[in-house]
Amino acid sequence: MRHHFIAPSLLAADFTKLQAEIDIVNDSEADWLHLDVMDGRFVPNITFGMFIVEAIRKMCKKPLDVHLMIVEPDKYVERFRDAGADVISVHLEACDHLHRVVHQIKATGAKAGVALNPHTPVHLLEDLIEDIDLVCLMSVNPGFGGQKFIYQTIPKIRKLKELITTRNTATLIEIDGGVGLQNAESLLQAGADVLVAGSSVFGAPDPNAAIRQMKAIGKLEILV
Ligand code: DX5
Ligand code: ZN
Repeated sequence: MRHHFIAPSLLAADFTKLQAEIDIVNDSEADWLHLDVMDGRFVPNITFGMFIVEAIRKMCKKPLDVHLMIVEPDKYVERFRDAGADVISVHLEACDHLHRVVHQIKATGAKAGVALNPHTPVHLLEDLIEDIDLVCLMSVNPGFGGQKFIYQTIPKIRKLKELITTRNTATLIEIDGGVGLQNAESLLQAGADVLVAGSSVFGAPDPNAAIRQMKAIGKLEILV
């Protein structure tokens, strides 16, 4: 199996001790820290904006993977980049001019991600895939942590992987929602590159071990 990334989602962390929670990620084998920005319009929940992302940037040593679950994301791309985002993902469903927004993100120097809701088919990215650094397949309906993984995501990963392979692009496949040790291996086998994990990391008795275990999947195969 290929080298994969683990991106713990801070949404499931205890915000009364943010530095300690971020230090768990700093001192772990995690590759990125995933940040969920919600506006109460695109999704039925509100989290935080660029002001908090900027504070987290100062506390976190790993790249910040910022998932914008907001309407009109084009209005805020530069400000999230200035706040310290390394990857910025916008939702296809929130963009009337997705091509323009993807290039707007790339112009800031950040990696450009496009997130798809569970009901949005992968083929809608056919004419844009060459320009996208990362596709985030939502495996729950966005808005909340701790939800059940939607199993139809697995065939979607395969379809997306086929599209990426056919076009020979370097696009990463990220899976977000209900991801944990119970399904990580199947997701990676289907073609996932980045696993976002909220409650399965911060809700675990030993978050560092949870990250290590998810990171270790597939490694044994390489050894034999
Ligand atoms: C959901 C968010 C996810 C969330 C995942 O809208 O995009 O990143 O934090 O949480 P878990 O891993 O608990 O499903
Ligand atoms: Zn997310």
